[in-house]
Amino acid sequence: PHAELVFVGEAPGAEEDRRGEPFVGRAGRLLDSMLAALGLARGEGVYIANILKCRPPGNRDPKPEEADACRVFLDGQVALIRPRVIVALGRVAAQNLLATDAALGALRGQPLNYQGIPVVVTYHPAYLLRRPLDKRKAWDDLCLARRLMTRAADQAAPPHRSSSP
Ligand code: URA
Repeated sequence: PHAELVFVGEAPGAEEDRRGEPFVGRAGRLLDSMLAALGLARGEGVYIANILKCRPPGNRDPKPEEADACRVFLDGQVALIRPRVIVALGRVAAQNLLATDAALGALRGQPLNYQGIPVVVTYHPAYLLRRPLDKRKAWDDLCLARRLMTRAADQAAPPHRSSSP
């Protein structure tokens, strides 16, 4: 509940569905490495959620009505945690979270907004396993998320009191 950073993925895969935990496969291990590169770890100020709360048959893309049905849970997670920054992992997460049809490339590289919280869009780790050359761009996205976290922390800090008269 005190996470400062929330990642939002697409939907659990078979193994995630079985274990009730997000990102436990190869893509999850890559996500853990990305977090480690930022000096972060899941469960330590980092929360991982998904647009869909259970697995779509055959791992197909979530249907709009499925995303709508799960929205109340995602909204509840974000409202309870109120993280400093949200990172959307991949096109499906970004488009559903931000209610847009824009391409991932058009959404990356700028702070967007969900419930008043800055959102950074980046590639899904499963995509990065197939296209490792794009890891460089994903790193840029994570650095943007880190800068936004620092900025939000500075804004939340109590004003500095000068001791001079
Ligand atoms: N991919 C996702 O988008 N979410 C998971 O939880 C696992 C894989």
